[in-house]
Amino acid sequence: MNAAYFEVNRNTWNKKVEVHAKSTMYDLANFKKGKSSLMSYELDALGDVMGKSLLHLQCHFGQDTLSWSRMGAKCVGIDISDAGIAMATSLNTELGLDAEFVCCNVLETSNYIKETFDIVFTSYGVIGWLPDLKPWGLMIAERLKKGGVFYMTEFHPIVWMFDYLDTPPTMKYGYMQDEAIYEEYEGTYANNESKILSKEYGWNHGLSEVVNALVNAGLQISYLKEYDESPYDVLPGLVKTESGKYITRDRLYPLIFEIKATKP
Ligand SMILES: C[S@@+](CC[C@H](N)C(=O)[O-])C[C@H]1O[C@@H](n2cnc3c(N)ncnc32)[C@H](O)[C@@H]1O
Repeated sequence: MNAAYFEVNRNTWNKKVEVHAKSTMYDLANFKKGKSSLMSYELDALGDVMGKSLLHLQCHFGQDTLSWSRMGAKCVGIDISDAGIAMATSLNTELGLDAEFVCCNVLETSNYIKETFDIVFTSYGVIGWLPDLKPWGLMIAERLKKGGVFYMTEFHPIVWMFDYLDTPPTMKYGYMQDEAIYEEYEGTYANNESKILSKEYGWNHGLSEVVNALVNAGLQISYLKEYDESPYDVLPGLVKTESGKYITRDRLYPLIFEIKATKP
């Protein structure tokens, strides 16, 4: 059953690649001129990556992977979307960088990639595409070198309790519900005007599920942090702050969390 869900999601992400590559949000023209697509959370957390090997999980069309490459990391990006991987590979060639890209389901990464890495990285809108985080945690531990670092920055599970297709959004989904959430809508977070039809299966994961998937895979958590500010303006009704991040009007709940862990 999950294979059918993943196929629906892959088709939707394939359609999103072309729209996102033309969007203001992804700002491909300036990216090509050298602008980094990375945000302060991940830049501060990982610091100097020069000379380090880095595996980027769910890399979309590769901007973040290639931004780490520009900073001197030796990167491999993976994604389920063949259109995303094709565009990432072509950007890598166009920009003269040395990243590699592999098309696979993130849960099957270890079937495709045997090398181990100094850093495994994933960010913003990733774990919600996975039904179960236990195999995800095990794969991350497998792909890290001894002493290697796993870092993720992600939308907070509270954010996914809302149905944003309602106006105003309604709290409808369980913080930690097991059942898949199916949504069908026009447009994407990077371009509401687009006419593409998104069909998506997603899953909610509470923070304890994320942490335990990593701990049970043998990783040691260095920190878990929560923030009521998002670097992306992708949810309805957010307000821009002086720092350039986005908040809800009442700041009642967190929008982002980050986890750093190491493989002992
Ligand atoms: C929101 S994007 C990642 C965000 C990324 N930080 C960015 O903006 O470039 C989510 C990515 O997850 C990928 N994805 C979804 N399900 C996947 C799966 N099961 N295995 C691998 N990649 C998956 C999608 O193709 C998409 O590229």
